[in-house]
Amino acid sequence: MKKPEFVFATCRAGSEPSLKREVAARHGGWLTPAFMRPQLITFKAKTEMRPDFELDAAFSSVSGFSAGMAKTPEEVAAKVQEQGLEVSQVHVYPRVIGEDGVADEVWQRVDAIHGQITPLVSLTKTSQLILDVIIGEEGEPWFLGIHRRTPAAHPSPGALPRVQLPPEAPSRAWLKMEQALSWLGLDAPDALKGKTALELGSAPGGASWALLQRGMRVIGLDTGSMDERVLRHPNYHHLSIPAGDVSLRELPREVDLLASDMNLHPGLVVKYMERFTRELNPRWLALTLKMNDGQVESQIPSLLQQLRRFTPGEVYARQLPANRREITVISH
Ligand SMILES: C[S@@+](CC[C@H](N)C(=O)[O-])C[C@H]1O[C@@H](n2cnc3c(N)ncnc32)[C@H](O)[C@@H]1O
Repeated sequence: MKKPEFVFATCRAGSEPSLKREVAARHGGWLTPAFMRPQLITFKAKTEMRPDFELDAAFSSVSGFSAGMAKTPEEVAAKVQEQGLEVSQVHVYPRVIGEDGVADEVWQRVDAIHGQITPLVSLTKTSQLILDVIIGEEGEPWFLGIHRRTPAAHPSPGALPRVQLPPEAPSRAWLKMEQALSWLGLDAPDALKGKTALELGSAPGGASWALLQRGMRVIGLDTGSMDERVLRHPNYHHLSIPAGDVSLRELPREVDLLASDMNLHPGLVVKYMERFTRELNPRWLALTLKMNDGQVESQIPSLLQQLRRFTPGEVYARQLPANRREITVISH
């Protein structure tokens, strides 16, 4: 791979200013914004970048090194060859991704382009690198990027698993949970069957519904009203108690997944997560941290540091496509 000069990051619509602030705060003038389109920003590095540099910004959906632009599948293949890139996968996805996903006709266009590119790019199965081909409006050159396959990166192209919010889901949190499970690598049909989850802030019940559909036993905790279908589900147990008041006697001795979607200050959410993680020993964590102002955004690094003191594994934070004014944090 040639020496990279630019990094790219995709983000949720409207999160571009937050992403720029986060990069400015973390990389203090070393990375400066260069090219900007809705939901896509590149940053130029002032000095040489190490090939293993990771932007790792919570407000980015996908980030990596820029690899130029192309207008045709042949140009994509030529750029890959010119730059000596050895990639194991090609991710083709739209630049503009809505909070509820992408329309079928957009995927059809994107998939057709993917179908034309794949025969021209030879794949190296052992490589950790993934080629991103980001498709903008009709006639706009495609943006090329390279990112590394790591647990911090979402495995789906554009960080967008192809699941649609079912109209009968009790809330949009169904989609947030599905995107988080896919990031945790738990989206295989039987991955969670028979396992136990505790969700703090479960009402009205979209996320719990997703977990129940995957065969989990779920304990939901919220003083708000739950959807009747969730409440009546034989594998669901509800505790109408605030997280700070629940006694451990009311909970199982251990849970596999600890989730939180409480609309509380993130500092308080972390405090509750610490208590429940230490007591219930979960293997996986999936939580949202509400980003209601710029001050909370600037606290993300310290919130993640606090979480790392007690989580079951490394901590990763991203704003997933279905997140609104919040980021998702996972640990495994
Ligand atoms: C975004 S909603 C949760 C959506 C839910 N996860 C779903 O799947 O539909 C936030 C919830 O956090 C709950 N909440 C706020 N503070 C809480 C606390 N101290 N303990 C438990 N739940 C709390 C609110 O009652 C509210 O229902």
